Amino acid sequence: KTISLIGVPTDIGAGHRGAAMGPEALRVANLAAKLERRGLKVIDRGNLHGPLNPWQPPEHGYRHLDEVVAWNTAVYTAVHQELQAGRLPIMLGGDHCLAIGSISAVARHCHDEGKQLRVLWLDAHTDFNTAQATPTGNIHGMPVACLCGIGPAELTGLSGHAPATTPDVFRYIGIRSVDEGEKRMVRSADLQVHDMRHIDEVGMKRVMEEALAGIEGNIHLHVSFDVDFLDPSIAPGVGTTVRGGPNYREAQLCMEMIADTGCMASLDIVELNPAFDKRNQTAKLAVDLVESLFGKSTLIR
Ligand code: ARG
Ligand code: MN
Ligand code: MN
Ligand code: MN
Repeated sequence: KTISLIGVPTDIGAGHRGAAMGPEALRVANLAAKLERRGLKVIDRGNLHGPLNPWQPPEHGYRHLDEVVAWNTAVYTAVHQELQAGRLPIMLGGDHCLAIGSISAVARHCHDEGKQLRVLWLDAHTDFNTAQATPTGNIHGMPVACLCGIGPAELTGLSGHAPATTPDVFRYIGIRSVDEGEKRMVRSADLQVHDMRHIDEVGMKRVMEEALAGIEGNIHLHVSFDVDFLDPSIAPGVGTTVRGGPNYREAQLCMEMIADTGCMASLDIVELNPAFDKRNQTAKLAVDLVESLFGKSTLIR
């Protein structure tokens, strides 16, 4: 299978500037060459284009809604095209609002091909806010809600039918920051959350076995990797750090167990913010972990 890299240089959904530099930081950290070294064919499609960050306050609970719609329309079209062509798209983010477009395209594709969808959401945050619940208005805190049909019609209906998907397809891993109103939303949608306490108590191995249960055959596995999933001591280059995340080995095990399923068919790498990074270390770490996602291991297995 051929991999397509799609740069999405935007930070319109975030509360800090800088994630727009993420795509180039991942390229500088040699993502394409590292994947090619694994025997994969990689095409870099370059960057998508969209409006600049107008840096405005929220209106009716949403910050930069028009710009988020414009970017996600471009993401939707590009991702759907790559999937139709049988390629595996990797989004080089960009803030996490881009997952509205990418996962809407994946859901549409699964619907058309009769495939079942599973989304692994690796993140410190649940990103399940609404205009009422959000403390910030930042739409990168809302993509999962939008994908489940809760949000503005321009975003919930990107794929032509709303909702794009349903809460039961999501598995959250690494969660440790949920806003007060958001907690109620997550509870009433009955989302499956593997929070840090659960990882502490039973370990990453068992958590991943739970999150990957039932994955085989006709499943399209999408991984939405928010780099703030990682503990900030190893991954400082993000805008919204939350202490107490997975350490290096826990993150590696998580990626390796995903790779073992052989089912990953699309990937977002989001929230990398070079303005907060030092010597591109967080981009390099993300690339190292993505190599594991594509099957790199210490020994021949
Ligand atoms: N829950 C907070 C908010 O809604 C933070 C969201 C952070 N999301 C992210 N993709 N980094 O503003
Ligand atoms: Mn399709
Ligand atoms: Mn996050
Ligand atoms: Mn996120």
